[in-house]
Amino acid sequence: MTRGSGLRKTLAAKFDDELKFFKGWIHKPKAVGAIVPTSSITARRMASVIDIKSGLPVLELGPGTGVITKAILAHGVKPENLYAIEYSHEFVHHLRSHFPRVNVIEGDAFNLDKTLGDKRDLKFDSVVSGVPLLNFPVRQRIAYLNGLLDRLPHGRPVVQLTYGPMSPIPAGRGDYTVEHFDFILRNIPPTRLWIYRRATH
Ligand SMILES: C[S@@+](CC[C@H](N)C(=O)[O-])C[C@H]1O[C@@H](n2cnc3c(N)ncnc32)[C@H](O)[C@@H]1O
Repeated sequence: MTRGSGLRKTLAAKFDDELKFFKGWIHKPKAVGAIVPTSSITARRMASVIDIKSGLPVLELGPGTGVITKAILAHGVKPENLYAIEYSHEFVHHLRSHFPRVNVIEGDAFNLDKTLGDKRDLKFDSVVSGVPLLNFPVRQRIAYLNGLLDRLPHGRPVVQLTYGPMSPIPAGRGDYTVEHFDFILRNIPPTRLWIYRRATH
């Protein structure tokens, strides 16, 4: 393969992902949240919170086209150790064909007991979430976070992507800490990453 044809293939694959993303956005703009896929810089930063040495599985929520899934695998997580929960049937189909060994589960990240089924009691190392929380009421966001933290060892992180200036989950409303992790300009739109953990008493 020449360098030119390699580049053409890469660009074609990227365009295909963006087209899929855009189609998903047309069908369910509130659920998709953004208009183009997450940048690889954001994806790598999110994956960096995972502790490979723990040996525990990782939970990814709202993987969409799989940019963050790819970064999680590149970080060293074995595909069999990754559980990716996606609501949209089209994205699920796309993820299963690109990541055949990842546990891609079609379902609602807000109802994990049902979505995880017989895996509902698994402990995860960390959670990487791209679900657009700002489209949900604050009470529901807090319940979402508590449900996730209950699935992690004490002190392990939930990392969440958001396009607003503030943490989508307010501090002081429960047994968790809120940390601004990063602001990434090279993402459309620019994005902030927040980390939540169980508070230490
Ligand atoms: C901002 S996009 C994530 C983009 C992804 N990182 C990418 O680059 O393709 C949000 C994703 O969350 C999914 N989603 C929204 N609500 C969900 C829910 N309740 N459960 C699971 N996935 C959900 C959407 O279908 C969409 O794929």
